[in-house]
Amino acid sequence: MKQSSLWQGAGGNTWVAAQALLDHMFQPIEDLLMQAIPSSTQSLLDVGCGTGATTLAAARRLGADRRCTGVDISGPMIAAARERAAQAHSSATFIEADAQRHAFEPASFDAVISRFGVMFFDDPVAAFSALRRATRDGGTLRCIVWRGPEDNPFMTTAERSAAALLPQLPARAPDEPGQFGFANPDRVQAMLEQGGWRDIAITPLDVGCSFPEQDLLHYITHMGPVGRLLQSADESTRQQVADVARAAFEPFVYGDRVRYTAALWDIHAGAR
Ligand SMILES: C[S@@+](CC[C@H](N)C(=O)[O-])C[C@H]1O[C@@H](n2cnc3c(N)ncnc32)[C@H](O)[C@@H]1O
Repeated sequence: MKQSSLWQGAGGNTWVAAQALLDHMFQPIEDLLMQAIPSSTQSLLDVGCGTGATTLAAARRLGADRRCTGVDISGPMIAAARERAAQAHSSATFIEADAQRHAFEPASFDAVISRFGVMFFDDPVAAFSALRRATRDGGTLRCIVWRGPEDNPFMTTAERSAAALLPQLPARAPDEPGQFGFANPDRVQAMLEQGGWRDIAITPLDVGCSFPEQDLLHYITHMGPVGRLLQSADESTRQQVADVARAAFEPFVYGDRVRYTAALWDIHAGAR
């Protein structure tokens, strides 16, 4: 399935439903992104902002007199982000658009950030070129993305454990748009350079993530490739997959918490 259709439909809806769990689990990554936003930032763009946690956090950090904008291709996720902004009386605003093709005002942002929102483009060079044009000279890009599946066993436990029960599970293809699409740092470096970015630094980052054990079954049966297939599976398959996958996650369970290390790339680039 094309990434745009996935996020506009089922993928977007499952992320909205699991918003509290995902924001809790990825809070340390939000914190890392926030700490590095230059305090001089007047106008920030959050790419693939989803339900808006990091855009709202940036608006809190920078204050209401600065401009914080989230862009996302998913209608359901942008609707959720706007609702959260309204509830929080936040000055953050949101654009529902494909970041690869949207006509951002040229040189209108001085910081571009993303938490897991840039690996889904079918044309990453077009996307990074569009983001570069939208950034003024002297501006910065900071994206946090996943390293490879071999470094992130937590993220592939469900599909490895359920493979025999779900033969139609799609294989993870290296360099394809998707969660692990930016696993190869040489490829990411080349795409950023072709997109007009300079002073590129891509460094490994290991971040401890955790969430309540009581949310683990929902996570297994709704998120990722296994969760997607289970939405249309029969009850018996769903139960068998849930049982076998839950057992396979046991090494990540510590009492009432699930804990794992997210193996990430921390990407910095400059506009000049
Ligand atoms: C893994 S989610 C991350 C969401 C959010 N940044 C967070 O950390 O909670 C990836 C996001 O990228 C968005 N996305 C995928 N392709 C996109 C595109 N071409 N333009 C804008 N957003 C896109 C998806 O809709 C989704 O919200």
